[in-house]
Amino acid sequence: MKTVLLTGGLGYIGSHIAVCLQQSWRVVIVDNLANSSLEQLDRLQQLCPIAKADVFVADCADLTAFEAVYASIRPDAVIHLAGHKAVGESVEKPLMYYHNNLNATMNVLTLCARYATRTLIFSSSATVYGPQVSPMREDMALLETLNPYAETKAMSERMIRDFVKTHPDFQSTVLRYFNPVGAHPSGLIGERPNGIPNNLLPYIQQVASGKRPHLNVFGNDYPTPDGTPIRDYIHVMDLAQAHVAALNGATLGHHVYNVGTGKGTSVLELVTAFETATKIRIPVVVTARRAGDLVESTADVSKIEKELGWKATRSLETICLDAWKFESSQR
Ligand code: WQD
Repeated sequence: MKTVLLTGGLGYIGSHIAVCLQQSWRVVIVDNLANSSLEQLDRLQQLCPIAKADVFVADCADLTAFEAVYASIRPDAVIHLAGHKAVGESVEKPLMYYHNNLNATMNVLTLCARYATRTLIFSSSATVYGPQVSPMREDMALLETLNPYAETKAMSERMIRDFVKTHPDFQSTVLRYFNPVGAHPSGLIGERPNGIPNNLLPYIQQVASGKRPHLNVFGNDYPTPDGTPIRDYIHVMDLAQAHVAALNGATLGHHVYNVGTGKGTSVLELVTAFETATKIRIPVVVTARRAGDLVESTADVSKIEKELGWKATRSLETICLDAWKFESSQR
């Protein structure tokens, strides 16, 4: 069985990928626990038998520490997820984001070359498009990004692209995530933001559980049917399965794919979908717009379906039910 290293593998996305890969790959995880915990490992192990010896606590931005782990694994493939990912925090602390996210990517590429790993899947983001029109296509120009987080993703993509130009035997796949949401249907793993959730569905979940009194809707005067912004919400299990398709379908060269549903959902439509699915009312208060928000961000997903044979299958109702089941399982 081949070995795949998940950097940041104990995080929200990584843990779901580990569950989906465990049948066909030996999964090894390296994570610095900046945005996860070993308690997450206990819950993950109830879903997939990852040996504790295959989980390493190390910082991918520290080449010496990362290489000590990497040299002992010498993986056949890497799925690189490790990185800070809070948009607002990146605006306040740009150097922390550039240092952490860019060094992690450079170290991954350095170690791939040094230890003959020839397959890389990179966790990128729709934010690399900047204020591009929707539905966004992979052949569209990348406009000026709106925050340092997005800029680290765009720069990392370019690093990988340029690395592949000098390594003809290498295969890299960039996956541009739209809005990952939801949780594993078991309710055992899901998104557990530290502090006040920045993202919409985790916040709705906390309103439903009584942790928050209401949802603040950041503006309802956008040029959309109900005045609220539109996003492409994709179930985290669909997203995880896109990584399995990318890994199993990897080919030489550098490939870029959007990972979304291709469907747009407004803020108020997501609120209504959550209320309908869970029968829980979500009080809302309309407030001022949030700086940097796009009117719409939805994916054209024809390329990944055509080339990797993957498409999202889970509905908005499933997203809301799985999210609520996970939220309800939290203390
Ligand atoms: C969605 C919509 C908000 C919270 C972010 C980041 C990035 C990316 C995906 C990785 C927007 C509105 C939100 C709230 C609200 N992840 N909203 N009240 O901004 O599309 O993307 O997540 O790359 O982290 O780009 O997602 O969930 O923050 O916001 O009204 O309390 O919900 O204004 O229109 P976003 P989001």
